[in-house]
Amino acid sequence: MTELSTMILDKIRDVPDYPKPGVLFKDITPLLADPVAMAAVVEELAGLHEVDKIVGIEARGFILAAPVAYRAAAGFVPVRKKGKLPAATLEESYDLEYGSATIEVHRDAFAPGDRVLVVDDVLATGGTAKATVELVKRAGAEVVGIAVLMELAFLKGRERLSGVDLHSLVIV
Ligand code: PRP
Repeated sequence: MTELSTMILDKIRDVPDYPKPGVLFKDITPLLADPVAMAAVVEELAGLHEVDKIVGIEARGFILAAPVAYRAAAGFVPVRKKGKLPAATLEESYDLEYGSATIEVHRDAFAPGDRVLVVDDVLATGGTAKATVELVKRAGAEVVGIAVLMELAFLKGRERLSGVDLHSLVIV
């Protein structure tokens, strides 16, 4: 366990039975409120790859991805839930436990061949990350990696992302 992993684990709060009974929610707000821990996280993520764009996944991914983009001197691109982006989009749907979800990116978000790092807070089943990778590829860019604060290994999201460099600061 690295010093950074220990600091992250210490600042992520487990909230039982949220958003529904039986779910143990990983609350990152204590980490966000700690300037030392946040600076260390941003520094680590910004140093992973040389990229043109950082993609943040709505909503909590935005909070991490924007400062990482600034630190890496890269552009920031939002991947949003359906209906939130104003211009022409590409969309990708994926299965949830009950039903499905659709996310979108602007069609013109990337220059051809842009190198992209996808950033999010938590990797659970991997459905959101996989759909994001597909969106970025369809939009003409290259995904050089996915970086998350926390990977929930028991949900096996990593298995859905074979072929992509997945970097998790903490695996639980
Ligand atoms: C959470 C989390 C990831 C995703 C991970 O977002 O921030 O984006 O779920 O789950 P998966 O690996 O099973 O796809 P959520 O949809 O709760 O959105 P929010 O950040 O807007 O709350």
